[in-house]
Amino acid sequence: MQTKIAPSILSADFSVMGEAIRKLEQNGADLIHCDVMDGSFVEPITFGGQMIKNIRPLTKLPLDCHLMIEHPKTQVKFFAEAGADIITVHYGACAKISETYLEETLRLIKSHGVKCGAVVNPDVPVEKIFNVFPMCDMVLLMSVFPGYGGQKFIPEVLEKIKKAREYAAFVGKPDMDIEIDGGVTEENADIIRKAGANVLVAGSAVFRAADMAKTMANLKG
Ligand code: DX5
Ligand code: ZN
Repeated sequence: MQTKIAPSILSADFSVMGEAIRKLEQNGADLIHCDVMDGSFVEPITFGGQMIKNIRPLTKLPLDCHLMIEHPKTQVKFFAEAGADIITVHYGACAKISETYLEETLRLIKSHGVKCGAVVNPDVPVEKIFNVFPMCDMVLLMSVFPGYGGQKFIPEVLEKIKKAREYAAFVGKPDMDIEIDGGVTEENADIIRKAGANVLVAGSAVFRAADMAKTMANLKG
């Protein structure tokens, strides 16, 4: 499976976001990972649908919107209309509302013609989202606790990647996107790919790179 790189614009200079997006596209990015934080589900606040709307005309790459927010259902419409291509929502934010909230949110995302995905934190077993695998276009396994870029990769996620890839095949979706987010570097990308992930988010590794194109190529392997 071809590995895709999704640089996170969380590590960009927000005052020159347009330039950052163009640079990512020119240097081999496959998706643009947009980290949406609400100051409640996670401590920081980043940006909302307006950012997606503004960067949409600047790139042909898919906008991969990672919603680290409470009550994700309330934001789906705004992100879909702003031009998101993929919207992922946290199991943890949904489970505290109701048992069916995650499924309802994924259905709502799909009803807007947008790809959907479920996310689990490092301390949540991937089995918790097995029930929604058949409706997900992507599963996102956090390899750090969400909120901040530049953290260290939690290796326990590797086992979860294997389980997720196996279960995806079991439900008849062997090529489902399995995305890893947090602490991905040129040093650990290989074991992450070998475990079965095919979409790698990278914030600091890409933005701190001396040669962005080379770093992205190395991450792809
Ligand atoms: C963390 C975010 C990540 C983060 C990745 O809450 O979801 O996307 O920006 O950044 P690095 O690659 O620096 O860990
Ligand atoms: Zn993210």
